[in-house]
Amino acid sequence: MAAQTEHTDPAAGIDRALTALREGFMARFRAAATEQALRDENAKVLGKKGELTAILSQLGKAPPDQRKRIGEGANALRREVEAGFETCLHDLRKKVRAAELEAPPFDLTLPARFPLADGGHRHPISQVREDVVNVFRQLGFAVFDGPEVEHEEYNFGLLGYPPDHPATDMQDTFWTDRKLLLRSHTSNVQIRAMKSVKPPMAFIAPGTVYRRDDDATHSPMFHQIEAFLVDRNVTLAHLKGVLAEFAERIYGPGTPVRLRPSYFPFVEPGAEVDIGCVFCKQSDGTRKGCSLCKHTGWIEILGCGMIHPVVFENCGIDPDEWSGFALGMGLERIAILRYGIPNIKLLFENDPRFLAQF
Ligand code: PHE
Repeated sequence: MAAQTEHTDPAAGIDRALTALREGFMARFRAAATEQALRDENAKVLGKKGELTAILSQLGKAPPDQRKRIGEGANALRREVEAGFETCLHDLRKKVRAAELEAPPFDLTLPARFPLADGGHRHPISQVREDVVNVFRQLGFAVFDGPEVEHEEYNFGLLGYPPDHPATDMQDTFWTDRKLLLRSHTSNVQIRAMKSVKPPMAFIAPGTVYRRDDDATHSPMFHQIEAFLVDRNVTLAHLKGVLAEFAERIYGPGTPVRLRPSYFPFVEPGAEVDIGCVFCKQSDGTRKGCSLCKHTGWIEILGCGMIHPVVFENCGIDPDEWSGFALGMGLERIAILRYGIPNIKLLFENDPRFLAQF
């Protein structure tokens, strides 16, 4: 008889199901022993595939004049369930906290965990930077800082780059604006220093530089250190002396150094500096070298030269009275050579398995 009523009166069936749910849900919530179990139970009632939703999907079968009443009842039930859930959650958390406070205290007789010897250390780039900075500090150079977002004049123009120089191209330089760029080298600091300090001076400028370059040995962001010295009667011999000292202190006593003529707009003469290959040590040419020095026995490490008279003039320094040298090197390259790192990306990914090796 009941089955038949239900069949002929869907509204009564829905009412009965809602009542059953209303009478039962709180006991189910109370029975949940963990927060997750409570949330699961709540989802079984209110979730998309929950019981209340299933009941309401029958609403269409109820006579139209009953639907409003049933719908309102269902919404009231939803609010009751929500409130019941919150109450149970609150009680459950209180119970967990009370249990924690009741639990036996920490066992102070257990041995302590000591920090691991390899728990952390400076990044290889930071280590190389500190080493290079220290070498130049010992030689009497002071640190001069410059901006990473720079006027094109300081990065290119005043250094003697013609306006159409390829390095200024969209391909090579990140422009932030028509006149502003991310500096492509630390040579901007030469200009900044010489415009603001009266010679004599000896500075180094460590910092981040940016170029549109990206392969196994080039990264769009990398680190350079610039060193420059301005005084009376500075010659190429002084530059070579500093380079020899630098190579000895960074790569070990007796490391051979050679200068190869090269071109940079802001130096004259300009040179690239090679050191004897640190891997095969065969710069004497007697044997065949190794793949890392491309079988030449030599490895290029930096660019340098005597500061161009035009650069002095651009900074208000009299080139007849003063002369100087400048050099610039990439820190990633030094780290790669020192540690035999096969790909520059490893220095930026900061994988702990890689970093733990230094
Ligand atoms: N600025 C040059 C570069 O980034 C390096 C350099 C510095 C060359 C100083 C000469 C003198 O390639």
